[in-house]
Amino acid sequence: MNETLKVTKKINSHIANQNLSFQEAELMGLSQPTPFLALSDVAIESKFQTLKRELPGIEIYYATKANPDPKILGLVKKLGDGIDVASYREVLAAKAAGIPVWKMLHSNPVKNPTDIINCVKEGVQWFTFDNVDEIYKLRKFAPNANILLRIAIPKNSSVVNLSFKFGADEMEALPLIRNAVSNGLRVRGITFHVGSQCTSPESYISALQISKNIFNAAYNEGILLDVLDIGGGFPIGYRMGVPTISEFCSVIIRNIRNLFPNNMRIIAEPGRFICGEAITLVTRVIGKSIRKGIPWYYIDDGIYGSFSGKLFDHCDYRFITDKQGIRTECVVAGPTCDSIDVLSMDQRLPRLDLGDLLLVPGMGAYTSASATFFNGFAPTRIAVIEEITRTKPRKLNSFAFPPIQEQERKKQRLQIAQNI
Ligand SMILES: Cc1ncc(COP(=O)(O)O)c(C=O)c1O
Repeated sequence: MNETLKVTKKINSHIANQNLSFQEAELMGLSQPTPFLALSDVAIESKFQTLKRELPGIEIYYATKANPDPKILGLVKKLGDGIDVASYREVLAAKAAGIPVWKMLHSNPVKNPTDIINCVKEGVQWFTFDNVDEIYKLRKFAPNANILLRIAIPKNSSVVNLSFKFGADEMEALPLIRNAVSNGLRVRGITFHVGSQCTSPESYISALQISKNIFNAAYNEGILLDVLDIGGGFPIGYRMGVPTISEFCSVIIRNIRNLFPNNMRIIAEPGRFICGEAITLVTRVIGKSIRKGIPWYYIDDGIYGSFSGKLFDHCDYRFITDKQGIRTECVVAGPTCDSIDVLSMDQRLPRLDLGDLLLVPGMGAYTSASATFFNGFAPTRIAVIEEITRTKPRKLNSFAFPPIQEQERKKQRLQIAQNI
């Protein structure tokens, strides 16, 4: 049986769940206005532990771009093996969180020379490249760095294709490695990214095979490569289910074991998997209307804010309410004046009122990271659930707080609605 069949036969669907209850959301809402992104540091820790367990022996370098929030980077310092940075600003953010510079890997294959100069000044020692011009830049500005060749992966089952803009083809790899070595550069290995939100681990099978071919070809020319960076791509559930992480990683591990020696250094750069499900957006209904017979609900976060991932990350987020009632067709829209600021047209919700809370799970990756100030709406703040509820240790999805009395809740909602 081939790998693809083995993978698809076993799929257990996993969709995003909220990581806090409505009671906890209401409680957090007492000390800060909505919208806010409720981050569980316990969830981040559990994601690191899961990946460490499912990818034994592989070093975990969190991809800063997914969410550079200082609270998350603080946890990465404690839990990660290193960090993937893709710009000077990300280097500074990681440094500010206390992550030592020798643990940083600059993963952007095409860099502004000033970015290289600044990163080298800070002490960054690892870079990536995928073309001849980058070799010349690195020779000039980072002659002592360790470098990895980024390759493109032709087979793609990912929502975000990361081999369109970057990556040398397999045929180009050896000439580029030769060229870099003859320019005195320290080529240490290969890096790839199968694409973000990868829905089937079969993409890694071809990526690993191509990497192995290049390792062999280089070895035959006397160039010993000793590092493989398998990038990110590890999926999380949104409205659609994805394979469980253990099914997903078992295919990767099996193929790594078949192709590479036991003692080889292997790095992974997960972004979405670490932070995506650790954050739930807490947002409120701030306006209502009926248009062409369909209810419209306007909420206090939108496409120019945390839902920017709908555009840039091609994500579809699930709205959760604790309201009861018959669910009908409706539209959920953001707060700005732009008509593009529509967040959902195909989710059925019960009748909502002004001030009602909506929870949106899976809002940690590529959300606030790409939010703007458009129309005067500032990006939504991140608040740590455990800091506010002080219920440590708590398990994911275990709601430690007694329900707020219904009367009290109605009073709060009324006050909020009156203030709008
Ligand atoms: C080089 C690189 N590494 C890692 C990541 C993180 O990928 P993911 O969030 O899919 O794990 C990205 C995402 O764009 C990337 O470009």
